[in-house]
Parts: sequence; structure tokens; C-alpha cells
Amino acid sequence: MSRRPLLAVTGAVALAASLLTAGAASAATTTAAPDIDVAAVQAHLTRFQSIADANGGNRAAGTTGYDRSADYVAAELTAAGFDVTRQTCTGCYGQDQNIIADWPGGDTSQTIMLGAHLDGVRSGPGINDNASGSAALLEVALTLAAQDPTVTRHLRFAWWADEESGLRGSNHYVRTTGVSGIEAYLNLDMVGSSNAGYFVDNINGAYSAPFREYLTSVGAAPEEMTECCSDDGPFRNAGVPTSFLSTGASARKTTAQAAKWGGTAGRSFDPCYHSSCDSLPGNINVTALDRMTDATAHAVWTLAVDDDGTPPADPCTAVSAGPVNIVDHTTVYSPATVSACGRSGSATASVTVDITHTWRGDLVIRLLAPDGTAYPVADFNDYDSADDVHATYRVNLSGETADGSWRLSVQDHGPGDTGRIDSWRLTL
Ligand code: PHE
Ligand code: ZN
Ligand code: ZN
Ligand code: CA
Repeated sequence: MSRRPLLAVTGAVALAASLLTAGAASAATTTAAPDIDVAAVQAHLTRFQSIADANGGNRAAGTTGYDRSADYVAAELTAAGFDVTRQTCTGCYGQDQNIIADWPGGDTSQTIMLGAHLDGVRSGPGINDNASGSAALLEVALTLAAQDPTVTRHLRFAWWADEESGLRGSNHYVRTTGVSGIEAYLNLDMVGSSNAGYFVDNINGAYSAPFREYLTSVGAAPEEMTECCSDDGPFRNAGVPTSFLSTGASARKTTAQAAKWGGTAGRSFDPCYHSSCDSLPGNINVTALDRMTDATAHAVWTLAVDDDGTPPADPCTAVSAGPVNIVDHTTVYSPATVSACGRSGSATASVTVDITHTWRGDLVIRLLAPDGTAYPVADFNDYDSADDVHATYRVNLSGETADGSWRLSVQDHGPGDTGRIDSWRLTL
């Protein structure tokens, strides 16, 4: 499997071209993401407000306001041609349902999943938190269905039950359905904050690149998210790469942020966070909502629609340079370099090894950190006479700086059989 080192440049050029030509056919090889109509997103928000108004003023877990919200989203998606699953969350208050919508087509072993929580708190209609993320995601999904482009990766959308009392809907999904085939999970929570900031969680991650690119192109260069937490958590804990868009919750905008993005310094991004005034018409910044929705469309098109939509190489991974022969009764080394990861290794780092060998039980495999620390990967086993190693191993690298030159050390322990390190890959 080869990952092209991509596309940061190609993507940016294609994006710039699409913005400049404004609808004219582009010569670029990528299919430009559509400009989503923010009025359509606002119309979904109006529906969520009406649903709250008709159901005691909120859309919280375990209420009819939640159920009617779920009905609305499910009906829109079904009518547009999605395969819609209503997943009852047994761990959720009132056994609310997650709405899961699969767009038919694309490679299901490389699923890009996007989600937003559909519940609110009891104190109000939950318009910014999180009718905004729900409405933005819904309109991106409906636009995808209307345009029906050829998709390379499979796309799955989720509206989560019962986020507010502890990420219960998304946890239920990860525990019961699992994350097999999910290449990345992208989250939206609070994307129309009245005093908006522009935040991307895990901003340097591979799957944050489309968000970063788009927001920068419209003059809203994002910053790393500092508020926590939302439905990306269960996916990240299950080992799935995640990204997450938000315009901010209760934290206050700094002077520097106000100078950069506009708005009021010293005031919360959303002064109505978790309160009754999180309602229409006042508590949505339409410009922010429009940008975040278009950023989401850009990510969907970049990751799953474009022919050359290989996601940017994750800066926290490394691939070996080329094959290295394994010499009988000798230790050989294969290097792989990590640069620009900028953090420590994780406790759940992984090493994927592809070795051709005529008696794999001969081999002692170790991972050597840039500072020389050796991590055991696989020990010899004189009784394992099978050919070849094709396996992924977990290694706790939380004590290591990621950036630097790593090596796979392969010691051939027994006589007579030899082979070759074809390739190996490190995910920190
Ligand atoms: N997810 C939190 C909530 O729903 C708030 C939050 C939003 C945190 C956006 C971080 C970013 O209340
Ligand atoms: Zn909330
Ligand atoms: Zn929220
Ligand atoms: Ca040997």
C-alpha cells in the first residue's frame, strides 16, 4: 500500500483555482467542492427552533424535542437517497436514537465519517450547541446527494444522541458498531458562535488539512482548539484519526483573536452557551456558519470525492525508504524519518511490518527511537517456521519525541534462512 506524499500543494492550488474561476470549468484534476447555500442551513436551524418551541422549549436527551429532531434529520436524508439507520442507544437517556446515514458507494474500507451531536441541554433550544453543527452537516450531506459526484472513499454521516451527558450516543456507536473501516472521523460542534473564533482540533493532523486550507483561504486562519470535549473522543480513543471544527463555546476571545477574526475581546465565543438565549434569531453568526459549512464541504470533497483525493500524509507517520536485505545471523537496520509531527509519541503507536523471509521464527524485531531506546516488537521463535511477517504491532511510545530518525532493527537469529525487509511504517 502506498500513500502518496501529497497534496498540500495540489490541493491549495485547486482550491485557489476554484475560488478564482467561480463556477467556470476548472482545468484542475480535482472536483471543486460546492459553495453550500447558508440560507438552506439556516432553514434547518429554523426547523430545530420550531421543534424546540413545540416541545417544551428544548431538544434535550430523552425528550420529544430530541425525537422530533431525529425524525426531521432522518426524513430529509431518506428522501435524498441515503441508507439511514436509526440506532437505539441503550446507554442513552430515554434510549434515544443516533441517526447514521451512509451514502452508497466508495471504498468502505476507507470510510470517512462525519458527525455532530443532535441533542441540546434542557435550558434552551440548543441552536448554536448544536443545531448549528447538525444543520451544517445535514446540508453538506443533502448537497452531496443532489450533486451525486463519483466518490472514491465511502462517506458516513452521524447525528449523535445524548452528547451533553457524556458523549453517550457516540460511545454507544463505537462500542457496538465499532470503527472497522473508518479511516477518519470529523466532528462539528458549535459552528455558528455569535462572537466566533475558528478552531480546528488536532490542527496539524492529516485530516485537518482541508479545514485549515479552506478557512485560511477565506481569511479565517484557524487555531488549535483549546476547549473540550465532544464526540470525536470515543473515535480517537479507539485509534481513529480525528479532526473537529468549532467556533468556540464559553471561553473568552483574546485581544489577539479579536484583532485577527473580528468580534469582541474579553467576551465568550458564545455568551449564550448552555443557556436559554441559545436560540434564534440572535444566537447565530451567519458568516461563521457559512464558512464552517463550506469548510466541511471542502473536506468531504477533498477526502472522498476527488480522484486524487489522497489525504495529506500524516506528519506523525513515517514510511521506510526502501527494501533492506536480511543477512543470515546478522542484524540489519531500516531507517524511517519523522519530521514536523511536533509532539510526543502516543501510548498506542503502531508499527506495521512487511518482511519476506523463509523462516520468520528466526527474527528478532525491535524499534529504535531517535535517541536509541530499543522497543521490542517481536521475539524469535524457533518453532515458527512459517514464511514472512505481515503484521501491525502496538508500541507505547509516550516517552519519546516523535520527530527524528527511527530504525527498525531486524536480527536474524537462526542459521540457513534469510529474507528482506520490504517496508515498514510507523504511526506515532
Ligand atoms: N461539546 C461541548 C458541549 O456540547 C462544548 C464544546 C463545543 C467543547 C465545542 C469544545 C468545542 O457542550
Ligand atoms: Zn453543550
Ligand atoms: Zn456541543
Ligand atoms: Ca536465518
